[in-house]
Amino acid sequence: MQILFFCNPYKFTALTPQENILERISEKFKAIDQDPNTHLEGLVWSKPITYWDYIHTDALLNLQIQKTTLPDEMVFIMYHQINELLFKMILWEIDQVAFGTELTAPFFTQKLERISRYFDMLTSSFSIMQDGMEREQYLKFRNTLTPASGFQSAQYRMIEFSSTNIINLIDHRFRETIDRNTPYEHAYNHLYWQAAGKDHTTGKKTTLIRLFEERYKDEFIRSMEKYNVNNLWSRFQELKEEEKTPELKKAMRDYDYTVNVKWVMSHYHAAEKYLETKGKTVEATGGSDWKKYMHPKYQRRIFFPGLWSEDELKNWGEGV
Ligand code: HEM
Repeated sequence: MQILFFCNPYKFTALTPQENILERISEKFKAIDQDPNTHLEGLVWSKPITYWDYIHTDALLNLQIQKTTLPDEMVFIMYHQINELLFKMILWEIDQVAFGTELTAPFFTQKLERISRYFDMLTSSFSIMQDGMEREQYLKFRNTLTPASGFQSAQYRMIEFSSTNIINLIDHRFRETIDRNTPYEHAYNHLYWQAAGKDHTTGKKTTLIRLFEERYKDEFIRSMEKYNVNNLWSRFQELKEEEKTPELKKAMRDYDYTVNVKWVMSHYHAAEKYLETKGKTVEATGGSDWKKYMHPKYQRRIFFPGLWSEDELKNWGEGV
């Protein structure tokens, strides 16, 4: 049977649910100069959808490739992959706020709460790293991945760029020298994390950061531009005073604390377990002065400084 499509001349004639769907399909394809009948014919021959085709489980479950024979290396690889998937979910939510038109306080709050839940999940699940691997195995397989480090997670850096103004990511020692007119390249070279990528004895950039930059620097500069006036902090500041509700402020503070203190501390404790014995530290795979670099009280990365009191800012990361 052939289905004929034409615009309904009797706009007020009640359509059956099936006719209604066909009418909408027709309008959709005609709007892009396509013959709706061709697309409906395609449906006749399409395969039934399955869970594995839709979720791409075959592709996903073939991405775990060990470099050693040590079983705990698998935990390490998979847990990092889970983190990257969650980072992608976080960026997905951030972008809806960053580029949302007609932003409202309830929508902003809801998205922030969702993002914090993802970060809470990453924070509490760090025990998979801390208690889920044998230290002896880690100390063996890490040799095969040197000089790679989670430091080279590009999505983590994108989360930073999209969360706050660039000035809040600049190394404290150089903040005075940077303002809104500073070229992106110059600001990039003074980001707080550049400190971990310098050999602290020679001042030279380490292989960790050199390779990271070769792969991602252009993308990072584009990302800094993209979020310059579209990050979570600038979108919050743009709201009218009455739209900055107590719920929204709380959600902003929770997010800042979850990412920049809670997650950071879980990570730090995992590093301590694997890289420190009896007060002696082992060099990190990425080669940073990690004990100083990673602690929030030294790093002092704060996305929304205007939402914390002077005391809270002064004591950031203390006593955690
Ligand atoms: C046994 C587990 C882990 C250890 C011992 C560890 C250790 C370290 C160390 C020492 C650094 C400092 C840079 C360096 O010299 O390498 C670092 C940075 C980093 N790691 Fe991990 N890490 C672990 C797990 C993870 C996981 C699961 C992730 C999630 C993707 C991750 C993400 C990061 C990020 C984003 C940084 C940069 C942090 C910043 O710049 O503030 N790490 N890690």
